[in-house]
Amino acid sequence: MHQSVLLNKAVSYLNLRKGAVVVDATVGGGGHSEEILKSILPGGRVIGIDADLEALAIARDRLKSFGGSFTPVNDNFRNIDRILKIQNIKNVDAVLLDIGISSYQLDDASRGFSIRSDASLDMRMDRSSGITAYDVVNKYKEEKLSEIIENFGEERFHNRIARFIKDARERKAIETTGELAEIVKMAVGYKYRNLKIHPATRTFQAIRIFVNDELGALEEALKSAIFWLKPGGRIVVISFHSLEDRIVKNMFKGYSKLSVLKIITKKPLIPEREEVINNPRSRSAKLRVAERIEQ
Ligand SMILES: C[S@@+](CC[C@H](N)C(=O)[O-])C[C@H]1O[C@@H](n2cnc3c(N)ncnc32)[C@H](O)[C@@H]1O
Repeated sequence: MHQSVLLNKAVSYLNLRKGAVVVDATVGGGGHSEEILKSILPGGRVIGIDADLEALAIARDRLKSFGGSFTPVNDNFRNIDRILKIQNIKNVDAVLLDIGISSYQLDDASRGFSIRSDASLDMRMDRSSGITAYDVVNKYKEEKLSEIIENFGEERFHNRIARFIKDARERKAIETTGELAEIVKMAVGYKYRNLKIHPATRTFQAIRIFVNDELGALEEALKSAIFWLKPGGRIVVISFHSLEDRIVKNMFKGYSKLSVLKIITKKPLIPEREEVINNPRSRSAKLRVAERIEQ
């Protein structure tokens, strides 16, 4: 079961009313959508997007009692424009993005997201298309690998890790997450011995972000979502690492200078201690809110 992060805060900052039209751009297990639906019915509607067909199936099942008020859409959230046009929607009252991966994806070893289980190197959110982590790790030039690990993992030892990966794959293709984690550990494990995180955490994050073009998708989604909001409509974004949070912060700031958005959270909101204890995956969450200005 995926425990929705910052559930109450996110839903209350969406400022919902009965009859509202809401985009949940990362429906995942449907936890946020469920609370949103309770606040907007009767008369409201949630367009629930997820790139992951398996996630959407779980959400659809969980939300079946809401009938036609929940519209599941299997697509990348970077396509919000196209999705809302197809749904014949003019504008929306609120948008939620709770980015990253869900516990379902992390706990399903076969997806290849987790350092702690040994599975084939996939890491795609949408398993029907795109390059896999296997392609990146085995086919990309050492310099490109190093750049990916530096830019998307903010990993200091990117050069050393890329060199170890190249040396290892010359002997034999790197097939599994376990093999990759071991190679990274060999490259930098001793430098991480006093830290709590696994030495391959940043490398895994980097490859996942690259495979899914997560930062590009986030930028496109934010730009579109902001323009679909009604005056007074709210956008709430929950992010899980500094690269994402920086994009959200800068985008909100840019649009507030243009008088398109009013920033509601000067500083990002974070989970209470109790939530972090109950759900350690929430520990790095940051929530930012902005409101569309009347023009
Ligand atoms: C943290 S989970 C969301 C959990 C959800 N809010 C809940 O309460 O259960 C993030 C979800 O966003 C999806 N996702 C991530 N990037 C996406 C993208 N670019 N387009 C569409 N879905 C995406 C993932 O597949 C995952 O299911």
